[in-house]
Amino acid sequence: MLAEVMDALAPKPGGCLLDGTVGGGGHAEAWLKASAPDGRLLGLDQDPAAIARCRERLARFGDRATLVIARFDDLSLQADLHHFPAFDAVLFDLGISSDQLDDPSRGLALRLDGPLDMRLSPEAAMSAADLVNHLPEAELADLIYRYGEEPLSRRIARAVVAARPLARTGELAELIARVAPARNHRRGSRIHPATRTFQALRIAVNDELAPIAPALEQAVGRLAEGGRLAVISFHSLEDRIVKQTLRRMATGCSCPAEMRVCVCRPRPLIRLISGKAIQPTALEVEQNGRARSARLRAAIRINDQQAA
Ligand SMILES: C[S@@+](CC[C@H](N)C(=O)[O-])C[C@H]1O[C@@H](n2cnc3c(N)ncnc32)[C@H](O)[C@@H]1O
Repeated sequence: MLAEVMDALAPKPGGCLLDGTVGGGGHAEAWLKASAPDGRLLGLDQDPAAIARCRERLARFGDRATLVIARFDDLSLQADLHHFPAFDAVLFDLGISSDQLDDPSRGLALRLDGPLDMRLSPEAAMSAADLVNHLPEAELADLIYRYGEEPLSRRIARAVVAARPLARTGELAELIARVAPARNHRRGSRIHPATRTFQALRIAVNDELAPIAPALEQAVGRLAEGGRLAVISFHSLEDRIVKQTLRRMATGCSCPAEMRVCVCRPRPLIRLISGKAIQPTALEVEQNGRARSARLRAAIRINDQQAA
């Protein structure tokens, strides 16, 4: 969704972007080109390998690009450390990159056999093997249900516990295909029966959901007036958090959820660019199947007078 993202971020010469998930640097490179000659970038990624690749790709932009190994919920700290007082745009392209998915040694793809690892950052406390081999059955089932929305979570957890220890992604994928094939694998569907379980383990290993709302709040706090925020999510759990957090900042209402009528003095911080998420075009989905579930939401930072 490069064109849609650039449209939402509205780069201009001299503009400053915070890319919270810089990955291989595709969006960052497009920003640096479009904001030439002096636009700048602060790019964060928790994966040192991604930052190393990105450094090579963006080397020709010299000190216009600052790249840091960090999690995006540390963005305020990193902005201060690297002397970026405010940004004209902030981007989060959530989830994992094709480079990470296609590397069997990371254990992220269920169709490529590899170690049950899934850590995007070497600092992550636990690998997928730790969860699969040590969580009590009920906790494992809850995790698969909550983060994978897998209706057969209990059956899968029971089978995993009986088959312990598991070390490889291939072993886990085969086991799940054996115990949960029919109902889970809709006829004609290309979705593997272990897809939801793999998603759940990856989300848990990398603590993917908890930092989203705080990071969006920090990002809006760092946007200059008229600055743009764009967020791409890849599954409904992420998109729900993004949608709710942006709506809350767009209404500016701080009343508790149980209040039926707003009694606070709402202070909106952003205006949503569109009420609905933007989806990839049919052509993009045809060219890149992984883009199928991408959803883009975008907003503009407003000032206090506009909000009043
Ligand atoms: C979909 S890729 C980004 C691709 C990038 N937009 C590009 O154009 O190449 C997502 C990236 O976000 C990183 N990531 C995921 N969660 C993160 C977090 N909490 N903090 C920092 N980086 C994170 C992943 O390591 C991955 O490199």
